[in-house]
Formats: sequence, C-alpha cells, structure tokens
Amino acid sequence: MMRAKLIPLFFFLALTLIVPFSAAYHVGVNYGTVANNLPPPHQVVNFIKTKTNINHVKIFDTNPNILAAFSNITGMSLTVTVPNSDIPSLSKLPKARSWLSDHLLPFLPATSIRYIAVGNEVIATSDKKLIAHLLPAMESLTLALNLANVTGISVSTPHSLGVLSGSSDPPSSGMFRKGYDKSIFAPILDFHNRTKSPFMVNPYPFFGFRPETLNYALFNTNDAVFFDPVTKLNYTNMFDAQLDAVSSAMKRLGYGDVDIVVAETGWPSAGEPNQTGVGLDYAAAYNGNLIKHVNSGKGTPLMPNRVFETYIFSLFNENLKPSASEQNFGLFKPDFTPVNDVGIMKTDQVTKHPSLEKWCVQ
Ligand SMILES: *[C@@H]1O[C@H](CO)[C@@H](O)[C@H](O)[C@H]1NC(C)=O
Ligand SMILES: *[C@@H]1O[C@H](CO)[C@@H](O)[C@H](O)[C@H]1NC(C)=O
Ligand SMILES: *[C@@H]1O[C@H](CO)[C@@H](O)[C@H](O)[C@H]1NC(C)=O
Ligand SMILES: *[C@@H]1O[C@H](CO)[C@@H](O)[C@H](O)[C@H]1NC(C)=O
Ligand SMILES: *[C@@H]1O[C@H](CO)[C@@H](O)[C@H](O)[C@H]1NC(C)=O
Repeated sequence: MMRAKLIPLFFFLALTLIVPFSAAYHVGVNYGTVANNLPPPHQVVNFIKTKTNINHVKIFDTNPNILAAFSNITGMSLTVTVPNSDIPSLSKLPKARSWLSDHLLPFLPATSIRYIAVGNEVIATSDKKLIAHLLPAMESLTLALNLANVTGISVSTPHSLGVLSGSSDPPSSGMFRKGYDKSIFAPILDFHNRTKSPFMVNPYPFFGFRPETLNYALFNTNDAVFFDPVTKLNYTNMFDAQLDAVSSAMKRLGYGDVDIVVAETGWPSAGEPNQTGVGLDYAAAYNGNLIKHVNSGKGTPLMPNRVFETYIFSLFNENLKPSASEQNFGLFKPDFTPVNDVGIMKTDQVTKHPSLEKWCVQ
C-alpha cells in the first residue's frame, strides 16, 4: 500500500519540480521591423520555433506576411497592433468589423492571436482626437470580435510609464496623471475588468536609472536599495518599483485586480560612446535577469506570486531606428546571431540543466 502510494507521489513531486524549470525559459518578444536588413518572416518564425524558447510574439502592425508565417505554429501566440492612425475610424462599429475582416479573419484560426493592441502609447502622444477615440475603438473591436464569433482574442492598449503622475514615488503613491485618472483611465480599466483583458504597460528602467541606481535598474543586486515608507516594503530592483507604481495607480481607481501585461521592456547593447550604462554586458544583465525574475513567479513586493506576461523589446536590432541606442535593443542580429546570451536558446536549457535533459525533450 505504502509503496503504491509513494510512486505516484514521487512522480508528482518530480513533475512539479521540473515544470517550473523548463517554463522558466519561456518569454515573449516584440518583433519590430524598422529595418531594411531583416530576414523574411517565415525564416524568423522557423528560427523562433526551432532555436528559442520564445512563445509569445508581439508585432507593431498586422503585416499579412508575418500573420501567415505564424499559421499552424503550435504553442506560439501573437499580439498584433492597430496603428495609431486607424484609431479614430475604428471607433465606429462598421469600420471595426471591416478592419477585422480585412486584417485578421483571413488568418484565423490557423494563426493564434492572443491580443489586439489598439495603438501604442496613445496617451503619450497628447493627441486629443486619438485619446478620445481610444476606448471607443477598443469597445468596437471587442464587439466586432463577438459578432464574428471569434473567441480567445482580447483587446488592450499599451501605455508608457509617462501616464503616471510625477509624484509616483514611492511605488505605493503611484497615480495616473491629473486630468487623465478619472476621465481616461477609470473607463479604460472598467473595460478591462468587464472584458477580462489586461492593462498593458511599457516599463523601461533604462529610461529611469541614474549612475548610482544602475545596478538596481539591472537587477544586479539583492540589497534593499529602496524602501517604501508607506508600505514598509523593500525594493531590490526598479522594474518591480515601476510595476508597483502602476498597480497602485490602478488600485486607487478601484481596479487593482485587473491583470498587467508588460508589453515592452528592454535595454540597448550599444549606443552613443558617451552614454552610461549602455553596452553588451548591461543588456545581457537586464534581459537575462528580467527573464529569470518574471518567470520565478515571485511577483513584486505589492503583487507577490503574480506572473506578468512580458514582452522584451526587441527581437532584432533595427537599423532604421533614429538613434544608436534605439537601433540596438535587439536580442538578435538580423543574421540570427545572438547579441548576447540571455538564456532563451533551446540549447541553454540543456547545457544549464544536464540532469533535466531527459525531461526537456519535446
Ligand atoms: C493550417 O492547418 C490547417 C489544418 O491542418 C490547414 O487546412 C491549413 O491549410 C494550414 N494553413 C497553412 C497556412 O499552412
Ligand atoms: C455567430 O454565431 C451565431 C450563433 O451560432 C450565428 O447565428 C451567426 O451566424 C454567427 N456569425 C458569424 C459571423 O459566423
Ligand atoms: C528592509 O530593509 C531594511 C534594511 O536592509 C531592513 O532593516 C528591513 O527589515 C527590511 N524590511 C522588510 C519588510 O524586509
Ligand atoms: C470588476 O468586475 C467584477 C466582476 O467581474 C465586479 O465584481 C467588480 O465590482 C468590478 N470592479 C469595479 C471597480 O467595477
Ligand atoms: C553625447 O554625444 C552626442 C553626440 O554624439 C551629443 O549630442 C550629446 O550631447 C552628448 N551627451 C553628453 C551627456 O555628453
């Protein structure tokens, strides 16, 4: 009797120990294409699928060649983006329905689309017309999906951290910018709460560090660098502090339970010669530590044990971006050479955990 019970228990324990290991290497990336030297989409998809543990991909448009290349790829989901300029027209249901028919329906269900991002950092544009049409466009697209009987795709919109008020420090005092909180963000969060869609944010510690907080920004320390006097919680990295500031802002409006997706984050591996904190080692540290951190399941001080679906910016270096640092956010060069080792190659798993090799064969 004892033995019969012990064997299944052993297997159960073994599986619970091993699943987090292999899952720990999964990650999302932004597949940006502001470049003139990138390989064709079907090669990119083949590379991602056969060589990496990337299982979520986000694109900044609805490029039909990319949508087609992702068809029938099991275990891979795609987030597509509505260009900001399409937002005003999509606030009308007939336009939303025709947009859906033209851009996405031809690829469903073979291409597994997870989210439609309506625009990118729309609030940061300060364009009143775009901002006014943002939520109506999200509502219309959601209704258009329902009318087309499409399930499994949710609608959201990524925000820059600039949507937070300047006084969102410490994290527990996070709030949305005055004038935008009740009028813009409360209705958007109500939409997310109703449709069970996530709030998307683009936190970039790279844009927030000072020389003395570089290690804090890179997750390179276990020290309590920052203490929140209100919650009495310690912060060891800036990413957690930024997410907790967002969460506090959401909670202040009553929507602390809405899921958060990190739609973009990253660190450049090269830049201007005089830029501090920019380089191969810094990019490797940030992206490598980020992947471990978000997959650890630890969550943040204010959101313990939560896993945030996270999309690194970016898959490739993009040579037509305006500045040297912006051109060098890629995990890979256009010839698929890794810019640095951040632990997302399939081979990383095997070399780092040889004892687990037999479990990782798929
Ligand atoms: C995807 O798979 C389905 C079912 O096997 C097949 O009918 C379809 O042609 C495939 N689509 C592409 C683009 O390969
Ligand atoms: C959606 O489903 C309903 C009920 O099954 C059906 O009447 C309707 O024709 C479907 N619409 C589309 C666009 O397939
Ligand atoms: C935060 O860090 C300080 C200084 O290291 C330590 O004394 C304190 O116990 C920590 N607080 C928590 C809640 O961990
Ligand atoms: C969020 O949705 C839930 C139902 O899913 C509801 O009970 C709750 O009141 C909503 N929150 C707000 C702030 O409206
Ligand atoms: C860095 O160099 C660029 C030119 O390459 C210059 O425009 C910029 O002002 C310099 N920044 C600092 C902080 O020295």
